Amino acid sequence: MFNREMYNKRMEWFKNDRFGMFIHWGLYSIPARGEWIRSTERMSIKDYEQYFEEFNPESFEPEVWAKLAKEAGMKYAVLTAKHHDGFCLFDTKLTEYKSTNTKSGRDFVREYLEAFRKEGIKVGLYFSLIDWHHPDYPHYKDMHHPMRDNKEYEGKVHNFDNYLEFMHAQVKELCTEYGKLDMMWFDFSYGDMKGEKWQADKLMKMVRTYQPDIIVDNRLEVSGEGFGSIATQNPTSYSGDYVSPEQIIPPNGLFDEEGNELAWEACITMNDNWGYTALDKNFKPASTIIKKLVECVSKNGNMLLNIGPDANGRIPKESVQILKEIGSWMKYNNKSIYGCKASSIPKPENGRITQNGKKIYYHVMENSIGYIPLYGIKTGEVEKIRLLYDGTELKIVNNWIVNNYPDIVFVNISKTPYLPDSIDTVVEVTIK
Ligand code: GLC
Repeated sequence: MFNREMYNKRMEWFKNDRFGMFIHWGLYSIPARGEWIRSTERMSIKDYEQYFEEFNPESFEPEVWAKLAKEAGMKYAVLTAKHHDGFCLFDTKLTEYKSTNTKSGRDFVREYLEAFRKEGIKVGLYFSLIDWHHPDYPHYKDMHHPMRDNKEYEGKVHNFDNYLEFMHAQVKELCTEYGKLDMMWFDFSYGDMKGEKWQADKLMKMVRTYQPDIIVDNRLEVSGEGFGSIATQNPTSYSGDYVSPEQIIPPNGLFDEEGNELAWEACITMNDNWGYTALDKNFKPASTIIKKLVECVSKNGNMLLNIGPDANGRIPKESVQILKEIGSWMKYNNKSIYGCKASSIPKPENGRITQNGKKIYYHVMENSIGYIPLYGIKTGEVEKIRLLYDGTELKIVNNWIVNNYPDIVFVNISKTPYLPDSIDTVVEVTIK
C-alpha cells in the first residue's frame, strides 16, 4: 500500500536538491555510437564481445567526476550500474558479464559510490530492466532486442521466470552490498513488459526492505512516455516516486488527477546521446542549460543532466566546460534553486520566478528599457530586495517614469543596456 506520509518524508531531499548528474558509461563507450548500438546495429553478443575484451578505462577517476559535479552545483548523481546491453559495472555474483572480469578488474559502482559520497553528493544507480545479454530475456519479436528480427531466434523458448529471478537477485545485490543508496533509476517498461510482468510488487518490497528511504523513478510502469499510477489517487506499490520526462521539460509542469503537484525529474542530454558518442558535437550552450534548470524548478521539477564519459573514463571536454560554466552561475545563485519551487505568481515576460517561502526569486533573463518590473508583488508587501549574486540592496523606484504603474514594483539593476548577468540575473525579494 502506498503510504503518503512516508512518501512525503522520503521526497524531502529530492524536492530540495533539484539538480543531479546522470552518467551513462559502459562497453558502448568504445564504439562510441550511443548506448543502444547493439540494438540499432543488430549486433550479436559475439559481435559485441570485442568491447568486453578491450574495456580497460585507465583514466577512470570518480573523484574527478564527483568534484566536477559538486562544482556544477549538482547534489545527486545516478550511474548506469547496468544498461540494456547487460554489462555490469559492479562485481555481481550472478553473471560473468561484469567489469571485474575485464582487463580493468575494477568494481566501478563501488568506486563511484565512495567518491561521490565523499563529496557529499547523494548517490543513485540506474538499473536496466531490459537485458540483451541474458539468454532468457525475450529475443525474437521483442520491440528492442538486437536479435528481434533474426530468424534464428524464431520459436526459441525463453524462461522469463528464470530471467526475473536473476534480475531481482542483482537488484538485491545492489541494495545489500553497497551501503545506503539514495536513488534507484529503473529503466524501462514498454508494451506488455511492465508492472507485474517484472514482478514489480515483489521487487519493490525487497528494495524497500533493504533501502527504506530510497527514491525510485516511475519506470517499472512506464518509460519517458506516460506518467504511471503515481499520477493517480491510488498509486501501486511499484508506482515509483516521481515522473521521469525524457528530453523535455513539461510545458506546464505536472499535476496528478486531482490537480496536486507531482514530483518530476527531467533527464536531459548535453548533446544528443546518453552514452559517449564521438561524432556528436551538438552540445547545448551552458546558458541554455542554466535557463532550463531554472525552468524546471519554476515548475516544481528537477533536472538530471547527463554526461557520457569516454571509454577511458574521461568526461568529454565540452561537457567539462559546460559544467564549469553552470558552476560559476550556481556558485552565486544557487539559493534560487535549492529548496525552491514554483511561485503562485505567473511567469513574467522577462524571465521566470522560483520561490522558497518568503523569498521570491525573479530570474531576469531579458533586460528592460530602464527599470526592471517585478510582477505580482506590491510595494507594501516587500521587506527587502537584493541582487542575489552579491547581496546589493535594491531600492524600490518611485518617480514619474514608473508612477503610472502603481501595482508593479520596479528596481534598477543596471545603468547600461546590459544585464549584470547576461544569462540570468537573479533578484531576491523578501516579502513580509
Ligand atoms: C531511455 C533509453 C536509455 C537511456 C534512458 C535515459 O529510455 O533506453 O538509453 O538510458 O532513456 O533516460
